[in-house]
Amino acid sequence: MFLQNVMLLLRAEGLHSCPQMAWANYRKTVAEIVSPPDELMLFCGMSIGYEDVTVQEARYPRAPLEDTVTFLGDAG
Ligand SMILES: Cc1cc2nc3c(=O)[nH]c(=O)nc-3n(C[C@H](O)[C@H](O)[C@H](O)COP(=O)(O)O)c2cc1C
Repeated sequence: MFLQNVMLLLRAEGLHSCPQMAWANYRKTVAEIVSPPDELMLFCGMSIGYEDVTVQEARYPRAPLEDTVTFLGDAG
């Protein structure tokens, strides 16, 4: 939830992001470079930047909201 909040705030500023827990596999290597305090370890990284719309990589569409969410009751 913390990451999601940061990601949503980034979108509000026009930025995109990509959280990556795979960085945790390399926490010892990263620690050799950034020398964190003993009580901290790298758990997750997040790439942040502006979308490059000229890149022709595969893009993954999002499922429509109605496919994944059911609203119950009357919010009004
Ligand atoms: C908490 C979290 C950790 C993630 N870690 C990785 C990761 O280590 N490696 C990876 O390829 N994708 C990881 N992902 C998925 C990517 O962030 C991203 O969602 C995925 O590459 C698909 O891109 P898209 O969501 O823009 O379509 C993670 C997602 C979340 C929410």
